[in-house]
Amino acid sequence: MRSIIDILDLSVEELDELVAKAQDIMKDPQKYAHKCEGKKLATMFYEPSTRTRLSFEAAMYELGGNVLSVASAASSSAAKGESVADTARMISCYADILAMRHPKEGAPLVAAMNASIPVVNAGDGGHNHPTQTLADLLTIHCEKGRFTDLTIGLCGDLKFGRTVHSLIAAMCRYTGVKFVLIAPEELKLPSYVKTQHILPSGHAFVETTDLEAVMPQLDVLYMTRVQKERFFNEEDYLRLKDSYILTPEKLKPAKQDLIIMHPLPRVNEISVAVDQDPRACYFKQALYGKFMREALILKLLEVD
Ligand code: NCD
Repeated sequence: MRSIIDILDLSVEELDELVAKAQDIMKDPQKYAHKCEGKKLATMFYEPSTRTRLSFEAAMYELGGNVLSVASAASSSAAKGESVADTARMISCYADILAMRHPKEGAPLVAAMNASIPVVNAGDGGHNHPTQTLADLLTIHCEKGRFTDLTIGLCGDLKFGRTVHSLIAAMCRYTGVKFVLIAPEELKLPSYVKTQHILPSGHAFVETTDLEAVMPQLDVLYMTRVQKERFFNEEDYLRLKDSYILTPEKLKPAKQDLIIMHPLPRVNEISVAVDQDPRACYFKQALYGKFMREALILKLLEVD
């Protein structure tokens, strides 16, 4: 029995397998339509979500399985004071696999240590978001055809943006990757992500506040939302929220084969005019997420 708490819980070979499986599902969904018959996915989301929860649930339905959903902490026994450990034990009695989002860093790990079913971290506070990284990897693979020799710009809230932390951890395992970290001083990448992942990989990275200056070098531009819910005061959020707004004008010096990604939801950081640009991949990225979650469910339930 395996849980996925961190993207590094999967080996590079397993990531390749998942990408190949997701691509096969995309080609022939019918082949997989009954694979999880009789199985149940529980989704337990103690923070807001649209894409992650619904794509997990859609993934399970597409595999012929069923879904049990705890929509919020307020509507579950967490409101009565039940611990994550106990809730995870309980859900193990009713479901075959659990996808869990929690505002506390490490909560899905605690759940995994106490559950008797696979637990998937669907986002823990400002820490990690491995299944978004699976969606991101499939997007990069389908749109760029490779994981190697890419200059990846990550822009926005690199401090609290958990999708950025997991994506960097994953991309550090491929050769020829360069990171361009674009953030205001207050929202720079936490030093632990640099010391745990970037520095040991030996990959080049630069930190800048200037998106336009670095635009021409980028193969991938990963925009992020300023994570309002993680700020300690509203004043700081209001000051920083519109630090970067991507517009068609700013994309003029960009490569023709750039891909523009965003885990979504978007607030102001990408103007809607950019949606028409063929390089905009963020809506496709959300669709790719469903296929990767199908591949992951099959793997964790050991269904072939
Ligand atoms: C992200 C998240 O929850 O971290 N959303 C998602 O799962 N696609 C990004 C965000 O909320 O900004």
